[in-house]
Amino acid sequence: MTDTNHKSEEMNLEDIRRDYNVGSLSHSDMTEDPLDKCREWLEDALRMNVIEPTALIVSTATLDGQPCTRTVLLKEISEEGKFIFYSNYESRKGHQIDLNPKVSLTFLWHQLQRQIHIEGTCRHVAPEVSDAYFAKRPYKSQVGARISPQSHPIPNRMFIVTEFAKEALRVGVKVPRPESWGGFEVTPHRIEFWQGRPSRLHDRFLYLLQEDGSWSLTRIAP
Ligand SMILES: Cc1cc2nc3c(=O)[nH]c(=O)nc-3n(C[C@H](O)[C@H](O)[C@H](O)COP(=O)(O)O)c2cc1C
Repeated sequence: MTDTNHKSEEMNLEDIRRDYNVGSLSHSDMTEDPLDKCREWLEDALRMNVIEPTALIVSTATLDGQPCTRTVLLKEISEEGKFIFYSNYESRKGHQIDLNPKVSLTFLWHQLQRQIHIEGTCRHVAPEVSDAYFAKRPYKSQVGARISPQSHPIPNRMFIVTEFAKEALRVGVKVPRPESWGGFEVTPHRIEFWQGRPSRLHDRFLYLLQEDGSWSLTRIAP
């Protein structure tokens, strides 16, 4: 990471390839409700001790169609089948979601050679839900959420470190949730499961939400 003499021509990115062979997916493996399969794959990722098993790539898009992505941590798949993460409502993603609630989510578990792609619509969770989760966060994360103007310019690192220290002194031990910070819940209407297979003949299954609330299930080509 600190080796600055690394020459890009020595990296040979074109030669990096791996055959995927740790699992497979057939029609009989697929649950009627794709949320059950999401929960199952998340549990597998936890059980297999993969790094950051709850890491979730969230893509938003501006009104003129510019996609924009970042990683967050999934905090819940609710009983109603919503994917919940927490962030700053005044951040770049927060403003984009206000204007365009259509988002996509990607889970990628390298060790399991699996990914899930989800498309859906996003909105804020109820304030009580954010309050309950905020109260469970570590103290320093609570203070940080209060002082970080996420995605906005700051003059230097000292600025944020000083703001943190000042706020910690000011609020004391019981830290109120700032209104600008809370949960987002994504209601899915398209969920695709991908399992890597040898020779790039991967298994993919696509669920689409139907008008009656049921899900269709189709195998799609790799
Ligand atoms: C592994 C990982 C987990 C992260 N989890 C969160 C999170 O749960 N919430 C969050 O606001 N940012 C999280 N971040 C930081 C975001 O990726 C991003 O930098 C931040 O939310 C600002 O994004 P925005 O400017 O697009 O709004 C995480 C980053 C990484 C690498």
